[in-house]
Amino acid sequence: MKFPEYRARRTRRTPTLRNMVRETRLAVDDLIYPLFCVEGEDVCNPISSMPGVCQLSIDRLVTEAREVWNLGIPAVILFGIPDHKDAEGSAGTKENGIIPRAVRAVKQAVPELIVITDVCLCEYTDHGHCGVIRGEEVVNDPTLELLCMQAVAHARAGADIVAPSDMMDGRVAAIRRALDTDGFDGVPIMSYAVKYASAFYGPFREAAESAPRFGDRRSYQMDPANRREALREAQLDVNENADFLIVKPAMAYLDILRDLRERYDLPLAAYNVSGEFAMLKAAGRQGWIEHDRVMLELLTGMKRAGADLIISYHAKEAARLLTQA
Ligand code: PBG
Repeated sequence: MKFPEYRARRTRRTPTLRNMVRETRLAVDDLIYPLFCVEGEDVCNPISSMPGVCQLSIDRLVTEAREVWNLGIPAVILFGIPDHKDAEGSAGTKENGIIPRAVRAVKQAVPELIVITDVCLCEYTDHGHCGVIRGEEVVNDPTLELLCMQAVAHARAGADIVAPSDMMDGRVAAIRRALDTDGFDGVPIMSYAVKYASAFYGPFREAAESAPRFGDRRSYQMDPANRREALREAQLDVNENADFLIVKPAMAYLDILRDLRERYDLPLAAYNVSGEFAMLKAAGRQGWIEHDRVMLELLTGMKRAGADLIISYHAKEAARLLTQA
């Protein structure tokens, strides 16, 4: 291949040609939309740092789920914010907690929509950490039992997939065992296999009211500088029979997505997190960048890096653009 016999521009001449040689296609089926659920009725509390995103009561969540399904988006991931938080996050393990009730309502209204539930204690603990604490330490093994109870409660309510995001060691195996024992061997685990201790989660913590009251999450979430460690984390979850792997955040970790894509054949999801969403919204509002084009470019980049699925607060607006184009 050599100029002038080869000319790379030949296949870029017309829109149809460009379309024919396009290598990556973002599709509505790739998207998963996150939703935040609170107690009450007819509640829609806007999240100031996430324009267009609200905490919703179950009735409003159901309306939103219908809209999501009608846009062609195949799945939602639910986060619950209980009225009452305590040290053990006991609101998260209740059979009749906010998430089990939300799951039942959504599955009843939109049975085909895939409902994924986030399994983690941070939305339910008064200290805001993802596990049980002893002094100021987040203790691993006692947390596993609570995560298992939470996952089983979600499955009993009809969750299609559970997604542990706590980053405790051994939780995929523990949750798999608990689900199987309870008769839920058909419920897949979408593991936040590689989750970094990221500053990009800021707006989410406003939405989920889950900012840690002391310290930070660096003793359980990963150091952003580490790549080989990501492979070890992923390998552990593969060994523990995870059904999907998540890399989180997405934008600053495309190399990790690529690494996992090359090494594992499990379905791979990128989590396009709250801070990534907020940055784009802010710059778009200032008129500094073209919001919609940058959004599709970023989502396409995640797919090109190796993601099969993208969890994104942009899912609805991306779906609208993709179907009208
Ligand atoms: C809970 C959880 C977090 C996110 C998803 N699940 C926050 C955290 O670890 O603090 C972040 C998602 C986002 O920023 O959009 N463990």
